[in-house]
Amino acid sequence: MKFEKNILCIGAGYVGGPTMAVIALKCPTYRVEVVDIDQDRIDRWNSDKIPIFEPGLDKIVKETRGRNLFFSTRIEKGIKAADIIFVSVNTPTKTFGEGAGMASDLQHWEKTAHKIIESADSDKIIVEKSTLPVRTAEAMERILKAGNRDIKYEVLSNPEFLAEGTAVKDLLEPDRVLIGSHQTEEGKKAAAALVKIYAHWVPKENIITANLWSAELSKLVANAFLAQRISSINAISALCEKTDADVAEISFAVGRDSRIGEKFLRPSIGFGGSCFKKDILNLVYIARGYSLNEVADYWEMVVKMNEYQKSRFVQRIVREMFNTVAGKKIALFGFAFKANTGDTRESPAIFVTQKLVEERAFVTVTDPEALDNARKDLESTMQMAPDLICFEPDPYKAAEDAHAVALLTEWEEYRQLDFEKIYKSMKKPAFIFDGRNILDHKKLYETGFNVYPIGKMQYTHFD
Ligand code: NAD
Ligand code: UGA
Repeated sequence: MKFEKNILCIGAGYVGGPTMAVIALKCPTYRVEVVDIDQDRIDRWNSDKIPIFEPGLDKIVKETRGRNLFFSTRIEKGIKAADIIFVSVNTPTKTFGEGAGMASDLQHWEKTAHKIIESADSDKIIVEKSTLPVRTAEAMERILKAGNRDIKYEVLSNPEFLAEGTAVKDLLEPDRVLIGSHQTEEGKKAAAALVKIYAHWVPKENIITANLWSAELSKLVANAFLAQRISSINAISALCEKTDADVAEISFAVGRDSRIGEKFLRPSIGFGGSCFKKDILNLVYIARGYSLNEVADYWEMVVKMNEYQKSRFVQRIVREMFNTVAGKKIALFGFAFKANTGDTRESPAIFVTQKLVEERAFVTVTDPEALDNARKDLESTMQMAPDLICFEPDPYKAAEDAHAVALLTEWEEYRQLDFEKIYKSMKKPAFIFDGRNILDHKKLYETGFNVYPIGKMQYTHFD
């Protein structure tokens, strides 16, 4: 079959895979290829068990793979054939040199730019899909211009706003698609070509065009604003625990103001995920680079508050369990950074486990999707304390003989558990720390548990 357009995506990760699967689904006349340097990842995309757990994605990949969606490691061939190249490689926080711990590590991204100039033999539109520091497109253009001068490249910014666990829905019905371009004739023409792709399924009024730098910066700002709301409500949860105010009632009352809105006001053990922390730290780094220290300090507090919330949760477990958890078994319900994903990157569960192990507790981790990743995340902790950590897919078994359950991920199935059965199998007094406020606290108390939610009244059987 002759395809109308060839689309390539470099990077077959959490963003590249689902985004391209949806483009392939909605644009059957386009050939979409996703390439990666990681052969194992590509093999898994081509297998029955795709490498990421995302509700609804399996079905879309099955429908499109081999029809107009292809996964391979043939990067050069893919670049040659492509009209439009999405770059969706990872841009983690730098761990070395200047800006370590704050700035974005752009080495993967830069390698793709070099690969493009080595392989391209016709004009290309390059789309930044990765989250990047503002003005990265300028650097991309400089690299591309160092190649064959007869080839024209137009760089666009098209940041991705999908959230894990709801990626398919977010891609099928996005609040908005943002496309940034140079405000030149060529820039606008390239943006129009990208608009045309999304217009296959996204209403025109939801496709926003902007200048390149606004689009790049909007992505960092969107994540910073979302994370800021979580840190704000988490800060208030600490105050609620001191004043007998109820954080759920506050979220509800405050969120009913239509100017504020109800979303992202759920208190938790802190936000996780691969992006919030990295993107805010990047924003902070950029602001400091322009000597905007007050701006940098302001946003850095969002991350500091998140660290505080994680620490506060562990400290409370230790304090309430009579100031020691040494030798006690604690079952951690959930390890993924949020429900409906197997992803554990920056999951607060990693911190909680490490701190409890430092306190010499026996930790049993259970999670419906994230145990493989949990094992990898805890490898070094396990080397130091091999007897203190174990993994158990069945939450009932995980809780057997435990002194406490700490619920860390808001999996729906945890709401449905038979907590009477769990209570009976646990050591007494039995503690439950609900890090997501999803359980029926009063009922748990009546069952016999001592119950500690976040930012709400605790229920205990102690005098
Ligand atoms: P990921 O680590 O899951 O995937 C990135 C992929 O790029 C990996 O498979 C890696 O092997 C590949 N890669 C790296 N260098 C390469 C190269 N030179 N050539 C070919 N492939 C290469 O990352 P992700 O979660 O998909 O994130 C990608 C980008 O999207 C990041 O900038 C991230 O901030 C942003 N983002 C992520 C999410 C999310 O939910 N995960 C949402 C929005 C935006
Ligand atoms: C987030 C953004 O929501 C996406 O728009 C963005 O594209 C993405 O980051 C990214 O750039 O990677 P994601 O991290 O997948 O998506 O998931 P969220 O639903 O935003 O949750 C992030 C963390 O905040 C989770 O740990 C979640 O449990 C926590 N959270 C979320 C709360 O603690 N309270 C809330 O009210 C909402």
